[in-house]
Amino acid sequence: MKILMVGSGGREHALIKKLIESDKCDKIYCAPGNGGISKDAECVNIGAMDIENMVKFAKDNAIDLVFVAPDDPLAAGMVDAMEKEGIRAFGPNANAAVIEASKVFSKNLMKKYGIPTAKYEVFDDPKKAVEYIESENTVPVVVKADGLALGKGVIIAQTIEDAKEAVKSIMEDKKFGDSGNNIVIEEFLTGPEVSVLAFTDGKVVKPMVSSKDHKRAYDNDEGLNTGGMGTVSPNPYYTDEIAKECYDTIFVPTIKAMEKEGRPFKGCLYFGLMITPNGPKVIEYNARFGDPEAQVVLPRLKTDLVDICEAIIDERLADVDIEWYDGAAACVVMASGGYPLSYKKGIEITGLDENGGVDGAIVYHAGTKLENGKMLTNGGRVLGVTAKADTLDEALDKAYKAVKSISFDGAHYRTDIGRTK
Ligand code: AMP
Ligand code: GLY
Repeated sequence: MKILMVGSGGREHALIKKLIESDKCDKIYCAPGNGGISKDAECVNIGAMDIENMVKFAKDNAIDLVFVAPDDPLAAGMVDAMEKEGIRAFGPNANAAVIEASKVFSKNLMKKYGIPTAKYEVFDDPKKAVEYIESENTVPVVVKADGLALGKGVIIAQTIEDAKEAVKSIMEDKKFGDSGNNIVIEEFLTGPEVSVLAFTDGKVVKPMVSSKDHKRAYDNDEGLNTGGMGTVSPNPYYTDEIAKECYDTIFVPTIKAMEKEGRPFKGCLYFGLMITPNGPKVIEYNARFGDPEAQVVLPRLKTDLVDICEAIIDERLADVDIEWYDGAAACVVMASGGYPLSYKKGIEITGLDENGGVDGAIVYHAGTKLENGKMLTNGGRVLGVTAKADTLDEALDKAYKAVKSISFDGAHYRTDIGRTK
């Protein structure tokens, strides 16, 4: 088979490395890809949002399977556009990807179908939002832009003044553009967070092994929110009992709700959960693999990923038995100095020789480019240094050992991945 991966980050690199393990994969392309990905796939210079040229490339090259990994092209209908031309594509249609692209949609869906989530109100008028904040007079309070905002559209306000300021910056100053035309104001929840990615063909849902993301930039969960500074799998807070509760009260009801709404979700549905004192609740849905969750979940997948993708497209996931390796995996993100604010690009990375010299470690490239034989930094998150082992401690030791042998000027990483709540 000829496969085309759409995207350019560490998640896409992890997906590619898993797909090429399959006997069925003869050739894999990635558009646009990155420096590290170019060692595993043929990179094609088409932007991830360029639907027209992506479809043309897939047609011209007789691609058998297109894998759309990032949120924006899914929300913009890339899978629909491929299907229209008879090209098989993995990922939800736009009408189902809305579960991530609109928080108003997902919150209303959960309310309608009784799926546990934080209490909320929706506003399209900043004045009414401010009145509500004043009348509730409770902090912390969470203010969320409705649409996609590069993972930055959530503000946890510690004071009423901050909450009002958040409403202003999102709705009036349009900090996230049209994504902030509507907002959700919701109750602040507490408890450990768990990411559960699940395969679904719209009818059946098969959760993957759990994981935990560390979103803050610095140790002890300090600093700004980022796309994710590191992950571990399994998530130590996700017991079998909680997993069963989530399956019964969240996963199955969500899939059924989407089917009932005439928006069957096919692909990978990401459940961002919080294990609150009142049970597990949904913080957010994503319509795709998480990044860097994919980097710790996929290495633990034993079953052929190409077979799973095909079964999902053909709506016969019920027939596929999905197997996982026991043990654990850990991923430590090496980021550019300054990330998630401004940072430099084009800095040479040394010590990379594929796995940082540590047997069994895997280095997924997130933001790199290859120039004159040199690997250079080319993004905020640069590398996801990952290891698999029998225990989480061993996986972390291996990943950190590999991190220490890789360097670039200004490199920043957290030293407490897998160690904090
Ligand atoms: P999201 O972009 O929806 O994943 O939100 C980013 C982060 O904000 C989450 O991972 C949580 O840590 C936090 N968050 C979002 N909603 C809430 C909430 N209702 N209560 C507490 N924390 C929240
Ligand atoms: N790591 C969080 C996300 O992919 O949205």
